Amino acid sequence: MLKGRNLINPDDLSVDEIYEIMTLAQKIIKSPMEYSNICKGRILGTLFFEPSTRTRLSFEAAMHRLGGSVIGFSESASSSTSKGESLSDTIRTVCAYSDIIAMRHPKEGSAHLAASVTTVPLINAGDGGHYHPTQTLTDLLTIIESKNTFDNLTIGLCGDLKFGRTVHSLLKTMKKFENNKFILISPTELKIPNYVKALAFKGDDEYVEVEKLEDVIDQLDILYMTRVQKERFFNEADYVRLKDSYILNSKKMQMAKKDMIVLHPLPRVNEISVEVDEDPRAVYFDQVKYGMYARMSLIIKLLGEEIC
Ligand code: NCD
Repeated sequence: MLKGRNLINPDDLSVDEIYEIMTLAQKIIKSPMEYSNICKGRILGTLFFEPSTRTRLSFEAAMHRLGGSVIGFSESASSSTSKGESLSDTIRTVCAYSDIIAMRHPKEGSAHLAASVTTVPLINAGDGGHYHPTQTLTDLLTIIESKNTFDNLTIGLCGDLKFGRTVHSLLKTMKKFENNKFILISPTELKIPNYVKALAFKGDDEYVEVEKLEDVIDQLDILYMTRVQKERFFNEADYVRLKDSYILNSKKMQMAKKDMIVLHPLPRVNEISVEVDEDPRAVYFDQVKYGMYARMSLIIKLLGEEIC
């Protein structure tokens, strides 16, 4: 039963609950008008203490498409945080106005803190370099629509695996399905943190770590590209040195399987050349739309279909 729950960490959802959210999202894709009034009278609070285009707008579009409304802010400078208000007090306040909250915050663990005081379902829309569970639902919907399965896949995660919260969430989630193989592609400095490895994998034989995309691209069913997370670096020189570690172009795509799909949570910087956009295997702009449907489904489930 998802009604009334928070979504903070990808582990908050069981495999059955993930399928439940996916099934509803696929129904919404087929007949969106059937859901266009289901959240009438309900209010989503969007609290974005960190920049966002897709996540915030897709949450807002999702609630509007369900017939509900949205309040919120898109930067902490326009909230009372700039006057020194604590996160707990902001959450208590927004709970008085909203039926459900989506929050993004630059600090790891902030979503846990917010969850400890909220009285309405709270969705973590990204907490620092930690987790981003609704991007994972977006990724999963893209995968099920393109591949029709979550099992028996070889998944390459490429780029900034250290700070990339979408990678941490997706990895933990895809591990729950059957017989998936993981190839972690990053420069040494941007390898996946040990705490994520320890949570996702039972042994060192469950994944492979490599530095060169060209060495493994032909093995992949899914290539998940990510940008180097400039805002989480302590030192500009390190960012400049690492930012162009990977550039996926048409030449590299020629080495890949005919049915490999390329995902990217976006925003893209330089890591995928625009020439790849025309390749039918590039599904990252479809992924943007699936993000809205995945969030529509999640909102309905957390609010409880019958009360919407
Ligand atoms: C991602 C994020 O915010 O973590 N973007 C998103 O939500 N679609 C990825 C990123 O910023 O690189």
